[in-house]
Amino acid sequence: MNGTDPLPRLENRVVVLIGGGSGIGFEVARRVIALGGSVALGGRTASRLEAAFALLGEQARWQTVDTADPASIEAFFASVPVVDGIFTTAAEYVVGPMRELDATDAASPFESKFWGQYRVVRAALDRLSPDASIVLMSGAASVRPPAAAPAYVAANAAIEGLARGLAVELAPVRVNAVSPGTIDGNLWANRDEAARTASFAQFSADTVLGRPGREDEVADAVIHLLTNRYTTGSTLYVDGGYALR
Ligand SMILES: NC(=O)c1ccc[n+]([C@@H]2O[C@H](COP(=O)([O-])OP(=O)(O)OC[C@H]3O[C@@H](n4cnc5c(N)ncnc54)[C@H](OP(=O)(O)O)[C@@H]3O)[C@@H](O)[C@H]2O)c1
Repeated sequence: MNGTDPLPRLENRVVVLIGGGSGIGFEVARRVIALGGSVALGGRTASRLEAAFALLGEQARWQTVDTADPASIEAFFASVPVVDGIFTTAAEYVVGPMRELDATDAASPFESKFWGQYRVVRAALDRLSPDASIVLMSGAASVRPPAAAPAYVAANAAIEGLARGLAVELAPVRVNAVSPGTIDGNLWANRDEAARTASFAQFSADTVLGRPGREDEVADAVIHLLTNRYTTGSTLYVDGGYALR
């Protein structure tokens, strides 16, 4: 990319997508490749990554990695010498009220979603190109808490704070967060149907645009943050106006 490109392009850029074998990360992978870049996909399940590779083609490569395991993250980056973009959707956590969660479950959004992303960025530091762009995955619960999920709310707020802090430390590398509302996609498709239906109805009622979002709508916002050259330290809410209500 250079300062005079009329449209966002990602020609010859390498974007690391840990969690990119499914959901929002996969939609970002499709867009990066369509814009001329390539993707390094990570996740824990080889068959999922292989299936994504089969759909994405030769501009994709993949390697298993577990963001809970620093050694596995180091091994992942050993085969990615230059990193132009990072977006990590990898996370596994329990959401619930303080009164009901044990200490391990309560800490899980921090351990998996916050520290997982922190570890990925830390491992990539020496490989970042000077105009790299990092997008952290947050969630609009950060600013508008849903019913009784305080540790999850706080973990997302911490991720948005991490984006601001890293934007200062890593400049001219840009660091932003994307913060989706409830998205009708792979994550919720794998959850209990009754909980999904209730959550979508509640979210639709609580949201200015009256419906859950889609994975492609979040992916479009991630591409914006990967390519815009003058946005750093920001959080972009892709939440249908959830935070306004
Ligand atoms: N969908 C929503 O409604 C929504 C809303 C707000 C925020 N978010 C955030 O979006 C992220 C989830 O993305 P998604 O919605 O696209 O869901 P998804 O399709 O379930 O994507 C998660 C991906 O991460 C991988 N993964 C999970 N744990 C991992 C680990 N420890 N190491 C490496 N890879 C791991 C999974 O593959 P393997 O299991 O094979 O590793 C999977 O491919 C979460 O951070 C979530 O909080 C989602």
